[in-house]
Amino acid sequence: MTDNELMKMAEKACENAYAPYSKFKVGAALLSSDGRVFTGCNVENSSYGAGICAERTAAVKAVSEDAVRFSAIAIANAGGGLTFPCGICRQFLSEFAEEGFRVILRNDNGSLEIFTLEELMPHGFKLRGSPRGEVEL
Ligand code: THU
Repeated sequence: MTDNELMKMAEKACENAYAPYSKFKVGAALLSSDGRVFTGCNVENSSYGAGICAERTAAVKAVSEDAVRFSAIAIANAGGGLTFPCGICRQFLSEFAEEGFRVILRNDNGSLEIFTLEELMPHGFKLRGSPRGEVEL
């Protein structure tokens, strides 16, 4: 799975976004460490706070299919341009992210830009235990 293929899947996933309120359609394609890809889109709700971002849709789909380690995510919006994950999604992804987890975005010129999650969210919250935040209570 190349970065470009993953991005194309994210762009395709935008088509299913349910965003009648913001009109901002987002798609994500999440690559799990075992090579599977899970796509997601944002799903809004008339009770606005109940909506969910594309990245977390993809992540919950993955975890519910027993994919609990992620290596990369591509994120796109239907209008094009960089779509950085929101703070909640950065935290949510960090729970399952491998070291070096990559966030793949496409800029206005059509080129891919790659960031690490660590770069986007340094000093993220971890309960305690391993560097991946596995819960050891
Ligand atoms: N959204 C995402 O899906 N991912 C993000 O990282 C940022 C925002 C969605 C939430 C909402 O449905 C719409 O974009 C506008 O905020």
